[in-house]
Amino acid sequence: MATQSLQVVILAAGQGKRMHSRLPKVLHPLGGRPMLLHVLDSARRLSPGRLAVVIGHGGETVAAHLDMPDVAWALQERQLGTGHAVMQALPKLEESGVVLVLYGDVPRIASGTMRSLVDAAAENQLALLTQEVDDPRGYGRIVRDGAGRVARIVEERDATEAERAIREVNTGILAAPYSRLKAWLSGLGNDNVQGEYYLTDIVAAAVAEGCPVAVRRPSSPTECLGVNSKRELARLERLLQMDRAQALLDAGVTLADPARIDVRGELTCGRDVAIDVNCIFEGRVVLGDGVKVGAHCILRDVTVGEATEIKPFSLLEEASVGANARIGPYARIRPGTELADEVHVGNFVEVKASTLGRGSKANHLAYVGDSTVGRDVNIGAGTITCNYDGARKHRTVIEDDVHIGSDVQLVAPVTVGKGATIGAGATIFKDVPPGGLTLTEAKQVTRPGWQRPKK
Ligand code: UD1
Ligand code: CA
Repeated sequence: MATQSLQVVILAAGQGKRMHSRLPKVLHPLGGRPMLLHVLDSARRLSPGRLAVVIGHGGETVAAHLDMPDVAWALQERQLGTGHAVMQALPKLEESGVVLVLYGDVPRIASGTMRSLVDAAAENQLALLTQEVDDPRGYGRIVRDGAGRVARIVEERDATEAERAIREVNTGILAAPYSRLKAWLSGLGNDNVQGEYYLTDIVAAAVAEGCPVAVRRPSSPTECLGVNSKRELARLERLLQMDRAQALLDAGVTLADPARIDVRGELTCGRDVAIDVNCIFEGRVVLGDGVKVGAHCILRDVTVGEATEIKPFSLLEEASVGANARIGPYARIRPGTELADEVHVGNFVEVKASTLGRGSKANHLAYVGDSTVGRDVNIGAGTITCNYDGARKHRTVIEDDVHIGSDVQLVAPVTVGKGATIGAGATIFKDVPPGGLTLTEAKQVTRPGWQRPKK
């Protein structure tokens, strides 16, 4: 069947009361992205002709958050049931082909599973995704006839004692030919315990008209887990993180403990990368060959060159680090920072919107902000660029081969010329010429016999 006649409907109108949150349920992040985006991404892999999302409670927030040109938003003003929800999406679809129904709060559904349903429905059948579970509570049960054929789905609240014992359950995900689906939906009633238009009632309708019902299974037992509460969200987060950790291991990355890494974005690693426990990666992070990341580091939108070591407890955001560099422990690298090869940034050093040239070092307790630092510069402990005059930020330029002693203040805008040396404790507020030693002398005075005040 040609893929352009596939259309996807994602149900996302439920309130999500049990999340106890102002944020609409499908916007809660999983692996760093709203859960609805996971479903949309997997659905897009099937190249559907139309992609409709049914929204209700907080729907404007969802549509505004996820402004995507390929999604048609269908509003379901009152949540009258899953069948009613799909009906709201029909006007957004082409009147042909196969319709695949997904849930915005079942985010781990795989494209391959979707495809198996779509292929079955393309043969003019109703295709259901069902699963055998140990504890069927809360699910609709698949009722089969004497010959083992699917007869209908009964919701738990409408089920008899015997039906409740059935362990084959409805995942909720299904696919059907558009024209048949439309006809079945138009015949739905709401004569049930919840007074809702159940999508699941289309099964009995299909059987009544002799339409075959095909059943498919998910490719993994946890793929169809839904999110109704923060507990379930946390469980899915761990499952997803374990998948990501396994993929990194499979690609040759050394992880001290696959249960203690969080990838909330895209992490790309070269060969022989080693990551210690409790690191968080956000946005796009690229680690070159042989990079080591120590325990408890956070990297967001960062590129790191070959053989560089990020030591424990370092935080790097929107920055690039060259090859053979040493960062941390306890380094804070802020947005707009570019560190060249062989740079050393040590403990309790903060660098912001600055470039450090090859081989430059700031090993202890420094603040380097809005600065251009050349090659082979040594910045002493306690040195600070005073980049802010209370109203505006100013730049500090430090040319190649400069040595700055400990506890120096560089009052920007200021330039330190090539090869200059600045003595400890200086306050530099005028440009420093190249070469030579620059000091701001403060006299050392001793008062012999001076008495400390007593209590
Ligand atoms: C539904 C199925 C049940 C299945 C279970 C799997 C029906 C009648 N029942 O039950 O057989 O085992 O899912 O989790 O379909 N939604 C709307 N509008 C509505 C109602 C629901 O958009 O008016 C959306 C929800 O946001 C959610 C999905 O549909 O994403 C499922 O709704 P939910 O109320 O959770 O259905 P269940 O009662 O769990
Ligand atoms: Ca549910």
